[in-house]
Amino acid sequence: MTEFNARYLKDYLPSDFSINTIDLTFELDDNKTKVTSVMSISKNTSEANKIILNGEQLKLIAVYYNDTALNASEYQVDDDSLSFLIKDNECTVKIVTEIDPENNTSLEGLFKSGGAFCTQCEAEGFRRITYYLDRPDVMAKFTTKVIADKNLYPYLLSNGNKIDSGDLNNNRHFVTWEDPFLKPCYLFALVAGDFDLLQDSYKTTSGRDVRLEIFVDKGNKTKAHHAMASLKHSMRWDEDTFGLEYDLDIYMIVAVDFFNMGAMENKGLNVFNSKFVLADKETATDTDYFNVEAVIAHEYFHNWTGNRVTCRDWFQLSLKEGLTVFRDQQFSADMHSAAVTRIKNVRVMRAQQFSEDAGPMSHPIRPEKVVEMNNFYTLTVYEKGSEVIRMLHTLLGKDKFRQGLDLYFQRFDGQAVTCDDFVTAMADAAKIDLILFKRWYSQSGTPIVKVEESFNTNSGEYQINLSQLTLPTKDQATKYALHIPIAIELINNEGTQSHLLELKSDNQQWRFSGFHEKPTLGFLANFSAPVKVDFEQSNSDLAIIMTSAKDKFLRWDAGQKLFSNTISQIITDTNYQIPAELIDILATQLCDNSDPALIAEQFTLPNFHELVEQFKPINPIKLVDALDKLKLFIAKGLEKQLLSIYQALADKPYLNNAQSIGDRALKNMSLSYLVLLPEHHDLVKRQYLTSDNMTDALAALQSSATQTVESFDAMMASFEQRWENTTLVMDKWFSLQAAYKGSNIFERLKNLTEHSLFSLKNPNRARSLIGAFAQNNSRYFHCETGRGYQFLADQICSLNAINPQVASRLITALIQYQDFDEYRQNLMKSQLERIAILPNLSKDLKEKLDAAL
Ligand code: PHE
Ligand code: ZN
Repeated sequence: MTEFNARYLKDYLPSDFSINTIDLTFELDDNKTKVTSVMSISKNTSEANKIILNGEQLKLIAVYYNDTALNASEYQVDDDSLSFLIKDNECTVKIVTEIDPENNTSLEGLFKSGGAFCTQCEAEGFRRITYYLDRPDVMAKFTTKVIADKNLYPYLLSNGNKIDSGDLNNNRHFVTWEDPFLKPCYLFALVAGDFDLLQDSYKTTSGRDVRLEIFVDKGNKTKAHHAMASLKHSMRWDEDTFGLEYDLDIYMIVAVDFFNMGAMENKGLNVFNSKFVLADKETATDTDYFNVEAVIAHEYFHNWTGNRVTCRDWFQLSLKEGLTVFRDQQFSADMHSAAVTRIKNVRVMRAQQFSEDAGPMSHPIRPEKVVEMNNFYTLTVYEKGSEVIRMLHTLLGKDKFRQGLDLYFQRFDGQAVTCDDFVTAMADAAKIDLILFKRWYSQSGTPIVKVEESFNTNSGEYQINLSQLTLPTKDQATKYALHIPIAIELINNEGTQSHLLELKSDNQQWRFSGFHEKPTLGFLANFSAPVKVDFEQSNSDLAIIMTSAKDKFLRWDAGQKLFSNTISQIITDTNYQIPAELIDILATQLCDNSDPALIAEQFTLPNFHELVEQFKPINPIKLVDALDKLKLFIAKGLEKQLLSIYQALADKPYLNNAQSIGDRALKNMSLSYLVLLPEHHDLVKRQYLTSDNMTDALAALQSSATQTVESFDAMMASFEQRWENTTLVMDKWFSLQAAYKGSNIFERLKNLTEHSLFSLKNPNRARSLIGAFAQNNSRYFHCETGRGYQFLADQICSLNAINPQVASRLITALIQYQDFDEYRQNLMKSQLERIAILPNLSKDLKEKLDAAL
């Protein structure tokens, strides 16, 4: 059924008009910013006559057609458009609008973050700045003049190169920027403010000198060095790996505290959530350091995969996002432990993307129907999109993949193209058939691959049967077989073999000969495809994989399976005794100290969300209890070993290198077990008091956010006092509070929402309390009384009016109700129904509620 308000991929039509150049002038003012846009427009077909420009929340002041002002009868203006006749093949249109940045709490378009003006245009925010053809296939040359008070806004920034600047009356000044590259308006940016500036430079392989500038709030300059180093590493890596160089003489990054997402790749002027720029050892954890580097790389890589070649329409979002996530994941893997990086990617897929793909908002990586585009910046488009690119990389091999990417840029540089164009370039370069593979772009849902094996002792032949099944999803009833690359290992005493199987139909068999005894199958090495695996393996086979697989991911994954098998038994049988054998198997892993970060991952149990995905529908409290029980069993069983690891690492000095980061991960993993034994509670307090870095301080607090660790509140009070003026650290404080496991959590949450530093207007702050509670405090979010759901729904109701994008992200925890038992499903649904009747319900929430209810 074609639904009113929805847009469909199948309806794509090229634009009737081109906008060739746009000259913008901004006269910045908190509440009355005047925007003047002068566009040269041409017709793409002779039949074109009426132009319909997008525009929202704008006050129209005047429209001129070839220098003549149009009177009100010559144009039509409504809530989301401005239209008028274009009589000539080429013409000039000037439009003057007025906007109110200070009251723009949605943080789309032009808004204020702290004292600075800042824009966010992706996906459809430019239409909140001026009337325009706000679609990515309309590409223009932008010139931007910014005018503002000289004292308040010494830095006036936009895309491209600075071509003019000077003083004006009333203590104002101006700067004019010109971007030589054609771009869609979603890549436009403007920033005006007073900052500290960290400067550096980079010389590209072909000899271009690039100025690198990072703008941060005053006082934060020393926290920008890691971001700068990360930027330079990214630039080098992209030259070395893909031969891609930067193309302007200046690359600017601005860090702001008010931002809906992680960061934005605006041409030459990235705007970042300060969380992904600022880092020093006192305020940022090792994970923060890792994430800053990854996001800096991601935005930098977009300059080619996103900006030089962009998307034809928003249904193609994964063209740039899936590919750019893949590139940043490869970069992180090269900069750190590849295995640990891969494990982190896979945890996100299993804990979050799989449930999105099975929930009411299920969509293919290239969606076919969209109501609110902001709802499609999803784990599916980004993370599964990256997995799809990774499968191409696996199928083609590194060299052919590179040739495919070269061909893609050769064909499409400077254009707005489709996912099909990308895959076709890959197929042409590698001379392989990817017709079937393209189905990954149009089919939603997670395939389940079922494995059956047999061994013929007489012939020494080992056989694998694979079958695939994708269950129907909300958006698609019928599913077809996909082209799935499956990497395996056949582990046996005579040497392990690695193979890549290409599963292309519902059922397929493979035979391997020459074995004296049945090999142990390591299935889906390196997580070669985003699928679920249905394969019963004995604990002894899992133990063999854990110690003998060549692929470290397989080793880790076998351990995870052992954990989830155990949890499943605990849930189904209340009298189940966890076998002591589990401790023996785990103990062997603690001995190998070559990669401490990997050991830490091996001892990190599958998280609540990963397990929900395996056992759904489930009573969440039973799952939380089972997890707690297993964790305590391990803590008791390995107490001596964990304590000696902890003690050996406890007083090592802080260094920022791989060994030291791995040691901290291992130490803090040990602490998270030891804290379950009351006799070791003093360890957390000691670690909190003696730590000289945020990784250790936060780990101590995280380990003790339970009612049973008495010192928690005192530590939290001292932490608050020390960090009350450091925004990003206070976000951590709110998240710790939200994860508190005590029955008075709801009184505590109420006080926290009334805390003087709490505000729903700052997305990081809102997420740090509300998101963290829903995500990390499963025992109380899902508590029997329904108060957890009610708390979340109350906050979403408030956010609906303030920031629809943030509200819409937070509702995920409620719309995936089908993962839980019927009692909870009903509680969750009744909260959704309460939200659904809000007056002025945003499009963002409405789309999700319509899908869920
Ligand atoms: N394009 C940004 C990225 O992936 C994400 C983003 C989308 C930021 C929409 C802001 C708004 O890097
Ligand atoms: Zn991106």
